[in-house]
Amino acid sequence: MKKPSPSNLILINSLTVTLILTLLSTPTAQPQGTSLGFYARTCPNVESIVRATVQSHFQSDPTVAPALLRMHFHDCFVQGCDASILLEGPNTEKSAFPNRLLRGFDVIDDAKKRLEAACAGIVSCADIIALAARDSVSLTRGLGWPVPLGRRDGTVSLALDTNNLPAFTDSIQVQVQKFADKGLNAQDLVTLVGGHTIGTAACQFFSYRLYNFSTSTPTGADPTIDPAFVPQLRALCPQNGDGSRRVGLDTGSQDTFDDSFFTNLRNGRGVLDSDQKLWTDPATRDIAQRFTGPIRGLLGLRFSLEFSRSMVKMSNVGVKTGSQGEIRKVCTAVN
Ligand code: HEM
Repeated sequence: MKKPSPSNLILINSLTVTLILTLLSTPTAQPQGTSLGFYARTCPNVESIVRATVQSHFQSDPTVAPALLRMHFHDCFVQGCDASILLEGPNTEKSAFPNRLLRGFDVIDDAKKRLEAACAGIVSCADIIALAARDSVSLTRGLGWPVPLGRRDGTVSLALDTNNLPAFTDSIQVQVQKFADKGLNAQDLVTLVGGHTIGTAACQFFSYRLYNFSTSTPTGADPTIDPAFVPQLRALCPQNGDGSRRVGLDTGSQDTFDDSFFTNLRNGRGVLDSDQKLWTDPATRDIAQRFTGPIRGLLGLRFSLEFSRSMVKMSNVGVKTGSQGEIRKVCTAVN
């Protein structure tokens, strides 16, 4: 078969993108009650205000992009996408172990301030997080997608509920189950974990893979890691070294939203054990494989499009709409 030329590929890509975005942007309400253009009359500049806020923080600190994307995931998986992650106080979600290293809260607070100045009491903190996550993807050269809006803010935030969050030590079976509990299938899992195409992880979450496997390999490293990759990771995370030191999750491309994360998994260069298992476990390998390779054919999946689709699904998990919840005055406290 004749290979399409690069310019034809760009054309095909942009046509596909246009088609999908058109489908996504058809102004029908989502089953959960969010909709596109929700603030069209009440706060028409909501999207540009959030975008400008994220952009200004991103310019001085590009690491806010992965931070905001992760924040949205951690918000949606606990009590639904309702900004419960932002509430401060003893034993709130924010104080729980899995959320200890979340960052970017100042960006959301800043956007909320600007929105309160433009249209007081209208835009929920939950919608701000959903928009900021999307803007973070497009600022790192990802595709971006239309975000259905109309989420309301929750009033409950409990540290104990963060047990729902997937852990880096979870088997694929457990990861699949935790996503299924939120109405997300195995393809959504593989696709959304592809969010690790940007950002970093602290050594404390994976350095055990570099040193604790002396019974399985002569080097003592997890046998699923490419042996040529081990010295590189060891140099970044020395044994008994600083566990808070950070390492890119998508080696070689941690600042760009692209599909190289999956090529890294194929090459045994996943950093977190939970990431590498997406490739080594047959239950998810086929899906991960469909995101790799230069020309993917009919069975191939285009990561940027699938990511947009799965994000719209994740952004609607357990949302509160209509008269549920409230529109917080400040994002860190209930009214
Ligand atoms: C099985 C599911 C998942 C597990 C076990 C997992 C685990 C982790 C861990 C351990 C880190 C490192 C945190 C740190 O050191 O600060 C991390 C970072 C990150 N995660 Fe995930 N994650 C999962 C799914 C997701 C999903 C679905 C998304 C987004 C859609 C996501 C986005 C991110 C991003 C962007 C970072 C980098 C954060 C930064 O640089 O500050 N993760 N994840």
